[in-house]
Amino acid sequence: MCGVVGYTGINQAAPWLLDGLQTLEYRGYDSAGIQVVSPSGNLHGVKCAGRVATLRERAASANPVGTCGIGHTRWATHGAPTDRNAHPHLDGTGRIAVVHNGIIENFQELRRELMAAGHTFASDTDTEVIPHLIQEALDGPAKGDLALAVRNAADRLEGSWALGVICADFPGTLVCTRNGSPLVVATTEDGAYAASDVMPLASVTSHVLQLNDYDVATLRADGSIEIRDRNWRPVESPSSFDIDWDASAAKMGGYSDFMAKEIGEQPEAIERLLAGRLGEHGIELDELSLSREELAAIDKIVIIACGTSYHVGLVAKTAIERWAKVPVDVEYASEFNYNEDYLVTDHTMCLVITQSGETADTLSAARRMRGMGCNVFAITNVLGSTAAREADGALYIQAGPEIAVASTKAYTAQMVASYLLALRLALANGKMTLAEVQKHFHEFEQLPDLMREVLSRRWQDKQAAARFRDKTSSLFLGRNVSATTAYEGALKLKEISYLHAEAYPSGEMKHGPISLIESGFPVVAVVPADHVHDKTVSNIQECLARGAVVVAVATDGDEKVAKMCQEVLWIPQCPDQLLVPAISVIHLQMLARYVARDRGYDVDKPRNLAKSVTVE
Ligand code: AGP
Ligand code: GLU
Repeated sequence: MCGVVGYTGINQAAPWLLDGLQTLEYRGYDSAGIQVVSPSGNLHGVKCAGRVATLRERAASANPVGTCGIGHTRWATHGAPTDRNAHPHLDGTGRIAVVHNGIIENFQELRRELMAAGHTFASDTDTEVIPHLIQEALDGPAKGDLALAVRNAADRLEGSWALGVICADFPGTLVCTRNGSPLVVATTEDGAYAASDVMPLASVTSHVLQLNDYDVATLRADGSIEIRDRNWRPVESPSSFDIDWDASAAKMGGYSDFMAKEIGEQPEAIERLLAGRLGEHGIELDELSLSREELAAIDKIVIIACGTSYHVGLVAKTAIERWAKVPVDVEYASEFNYNEDYLVTDHTMCLVITQSGETADTLSAARRMRGMGCNVFAITNVLGSTAAREADGALYIQAGPEIAVASTKAYTAQMVASYLLALRLALANGKMTLAEVQKHFHEFEQLPDLMREVLSRRWQDKQAAARFRDKTSSLFLGRNVSATTAYEGALKLKEISYLHAEAYPSGEMKHGPISLIESGFPVVAVVPADHVHDKTVSNIQECLARGAVVVAVATDGDEKVAKMCQEVLWIPQCPDQLLVPAISVIHLQMLARYVARDRGYDVDKPRNLAKSVTVE
């Protein structure tokens, strides 16, 4: 959570810092700030509660001058989102400024200790102890060496951090370090840059360096970057990667919001994902680096994820169990981490699904699985993300940057990626023939056009959205894989429209939630033409009998549903039932977006949320 940026070089720092923060704003957006240091050693900062746009206005009048600086867009963990809690935070002498992404778990002990030594604090944040610790180190054991002082301070910290540090005594020097929170750096002709992720860097370079936990990087105005590891040895060849999309991919183009853009990009994302995946011998997933024999030996899979990615896991379970006949557990990462009794077999494979690759709960769960002796694979969107780097193999969905907080294109692309894995396993363990795998793959190839068809019907979602305008609660129903679509649709509606949405398997409704229904109560029923269609239709009848307004997602030609329901969001016929979740969800993504817009909310940056949840 939160975005950190830093620059040192030949240009004024503030303009890029502000642009960089704008690009990172999806990571956190309750307050923002920048601090720059001029070549003569004057620190100048601006910070405020609210969005980067407000910070820009303040910066325009304050005009901070300096060619080295740091910036932050915050998602508060400790202390309300106020001006004084906004980053950067300074030490007591006002010489050292720090931006921080993460949580300092032992900040209370440190703060007490520092106060006893005469330090005074100006904010309620956990972060503020850091500049004070750096000051102690700089005035003591690390005299004259900012990087060493940062390392000494970091040695006292428990928790997670990505830090950017500048100091009036070292104009032109930017020091960065991390543990648990992401941070990348880049060198260019104009200077050196640091950022929480590659988004802001895409405008200045196509090549970035990764820092490992506890590495300390010193960035200098000539563009040079010196990295030292935990043992203070120079890191001669840091790992690096090329950004595989251009800066325009992270811009809104002609769309009014990123969510609309990303919903619309789903067909192309699936095309990219499938390209070149069907080879002579079946599905090409070389990145798994597992032999056919190793794949065939897998006797259990545990899928670990959060939020929307967890919902992908539920659909993936059906595909893997149906096609590869391997039993699958799907676990919320945050729950799994505290389940002492989880049982694995000798050949359990762990699959983590994470769009960002930085979700703290998911990363901890993956580490735990590795500790239990399991191979860990990741399905992720972000090249070089921590999940990908720590996994034994990573399958990139290549959906391009997903910026809206509500995940859309990653949902469907991760789903199809898990289908590829299911087919790969099914061929390896002999549960499917090559011809069957090919047939399924060719059906997947129809998905982009089916998605385009659903996208062209967005007027249906716009019309149905009016049914929710004045409501405070709603119910989403579906059976089997469509129950998962209902869960995902309800999550989308909740997170961006602040309208309560309860999602249940249709058959469970009569065991409790049916009591919610009264006249005019909105129910979304996902009822495609499949083997449970008639059962769900009966549940719709039960809702209608109690006065509900039912918005159905149904397959073209379904007269029964058309006659019963007040609104129908139509999907085209699909060649395989497992393709339905990837197209029916698009209606629910668009529905949620229209409801949120009708209610006047910022669909890309819903309250209290952030895109990348890097705290547990
Ligand atoms: C989805 O719309 C959410 N904003 C959220 O549930 C998200 O899917 C979750 O935090 C997991 O993120 P990840 O896929 O990056 O791990
Ligand atoms: N824990 C810090 C704070 O609350 C940093 C939060 C963040 O990562 O945005 O200020």
